[in-house]
Amino acid sequence: MSACPNPTPAPLIPGQPRVIIVGTGLAGLAAATQLSKQNVPVTLLDRAAKPGGNSIKASSGINGAPTRFQSQSAPDSEKEFYEDTVRSAGHPFKQSEAGEEEMREKLIKTVTGKSKGAVEWLSDEIGVDLSKVAQLGGHSRARTHRGDGGKPPGAAIVGALLEGLKGSPFVEVRTSSRVTRVLKEAREVTGVEYVTNVEGGDGGDEKTQTLQGPVVFASGGFAGDVRGMVSKYRPDLAGFPSTNEAREGSQPLLVDIGAKLVDMDHIQVHPTGFLDTKDASATVKFLAAEALRGEGGILLLDNGKRFVNELETREHVTDIVTKTATQMGTDLRQWDVTLLLDEGAASALDSHMQFYLWKGLIRKTTMGDLGQSTINAVQEYADIVAGKKEDPYGRTAFGNWTLSSVQPDSVAYVGKVTPVLHFTMGGVLFNDESQVLDSEGEAIPGLWAAGEVTGGLHGQNRLGGSSLLECVVFGRIAGNQAAAFYQQHYLAGKA
Ligand code: FAD
Ligand code: SIN
Repeated sequence: MSACPNPTPAPLIPGQPRVIIVGTGLAGLAAATQLSKQNVPVTLLDRAAKPGGNSIKASSGINGAPTRFQSQSAPDSEKEFYEDTVRSAGHPFKQSEAGEEEMREKLIKTVTGKSKGAVEWLSDEIGVDLSKVAQLGGHSRARTHRGDGGKPPGAAIVGALLEGLKGSPFVEVRTSSRVTRVLKEAREVTGVEYVTNVEGGDGGDEKTQTLQGPVVFASGGFAGDVRGMVSKYRPDLAGFPSTNEAREGSQPLLVDIGAKLVDMDHIQVHPTGFLDTKDASATVKFLAAEALRGEGGILLLDNGKRFVNELETREHVTDIVTKTATQMGTDLRQWDVTLLLDEGAASALDSHMQFYLWKGLIRKTTMGDLGQSTINAVQEYADIVAGKKEDPYGRTAFGNWTLSSVQPDSVAYVGKVTPVLHFTMGGVLFNDESQVLDSEGEAIPGLWAAGEVTGGLHGQNRLGGSSLLECVVFGRIAGNQAAAFYQQHYLAGKA
C-alpha cells in the first residue's frame, strides 16, 4: 500500500487515506462508532440524500439473550437463541458444503453469543432505551428489545449513533454519493470511486471522485430491487410489493472484485405489509410491525376466521397466507388478510399505533361492527389466551392481549395486511471477523462487510429482530478490524 504522510491518527485531511464506509444504516454507523472511538479517520458515503438506510425504519426491535430487560422468571439463554436461529435457518444450514457448515455455525454463534453485549452497548453506552421486550415469530422467548414509548427502535438507534458521531473531527458523512467501483491494487482493496450529487444532493452536476483507504461495505440488501436482482434470483416473486425503496442492490460491486455470493435466492417475504386501501397499488408498503402480533395481535381471513399461528416464522406464515387467503384483484400479488388487536395489545405499542392510526393504516372500531364470524373467532382466541383451550394452530405466547369476554361494543383495532418482500438473506460471503471472502474462501485484504449486504448467517429465514442485531455485532467487528488494518497498513512505521 502506498505510504501515508500523516504519522499518527489525525482528523480527516483532504486527499489523505481514511477508512471508507459504504452505507449509513446501522451496520455502517456501528462500524463508524468503533473507528471514531479509536481516532481513526473515516468517511461514510451514502447514495441517499439522508443517512439511516432501511435501519431507520426498523419497527420491532433488536434481539438479545439473556438481558436484564427480559423476564427473569423464565430466563432466556444464548443456547436457546442459537437453537431458534439454526431452526429458522433451515436447509442451507444443514445441507451446506463441507467447510461451509462450520462457517455458518460460527456466524450464528457470533451473533447469538454477542447479542447480550449488543443490547447492553446500545443501552448503556449509546443511551438507547431498549427496556420493552416482545416475542416475535419463530422465537421461543420474548427477546426483541425496543423502547418504552418514544421513537420506534430503528429511528432511536440510528439517531443516537448519528448524534454520537456528530462533531467528531475524525468522521464525515457524505450523502447523495453513490459508490460505483471498488478499487484494488493486486489483491488488496485500496479505495472506492463514487459519484456525487445523486438522489438530490445540492442540485449540482454529478461528479466522479475517488477516496483511498480500506473499505467497510454496509450497503444493505436488495429487496427493493424488484425488477433487477429480485427478478434475477427469484423470478417467481415478481409482482409482490416491498417494504424497501426501489433501489438497485450493491452486491455486484463486490462481485466485480472477486467476492463470492451465497444464498441469493433466499428472499424473505414478510407476511404483514399494510395494504392501504386508499392506495392499494402502491409497490412500496409500510410494514405492519411483527411486534403487533407479538403483543397479541391476530390474523383473520375475509370470512372472519383465524387460520395460522401468527408467531410462527415469517416463511411459514407467508406460506399459509398465500395458500389460504383470498387473492385480491389488483395488479400486484396481494391477499385479503385482516390484522386485529384488542386494547391490551394496542396499548403495548402506543406510539406505533398512533402512527398507524394517523396514516389510516389501522382503524379503531368495535367487534359488533366486524360481524358475528369475527366475534366468534376472537372469543375463541380469548379463551385460548385465558388457558381454557389449546390453540389448534399451536400458538402459546399472547403478549399483552387482555380481552376475555367479547361483546359487540368491545374495542378492536383492524388493518388490512398482505405479504411483502422485506429482506434478503443472501449476500457476500463473509466470516466471523467480517472479512469478505472470495470464491476460494480467502479473505480479501482491506475489505469488510456487515449487515444486510452479507449472506450465510440467516439461511432460508431470518428471525425478526436479528438484522439490527447483526448490524451491531458485525458492524462493530468490521470497525475494529478496519481500525487495526488502517493503523498497521497506513500508519505503522511512519511515526
Ligand atoms: P441499511 O440500513 O439499508 O443501509 C444501507 C445504506 O447503504 C443505505 O442508506 C443505502 O442508501 C446505502 N447504499 C447502498 N448502496 C450504496 C452505494 N453503492 N453507494 C453508497 N451508498 C449505498 N430488522 C430488525 O432486526 N428489527 C426490526 O424491527 C426491523 N424492522 C424493519 C422495518 C422495515 C420497514 C424494514 C424495511 C426493515 C426492517 N428490519 C428490521 C430490517 C433491518 O432494518 C435491515 O435489514 C437493516 O437495518 C439493514 O441495515 P444495513 O445497515 O445493513 O443497511
Ligand atoms: C418488523 O417490525 O416486523 C420487522 C422486524 C424485522 O424485520 O426484524
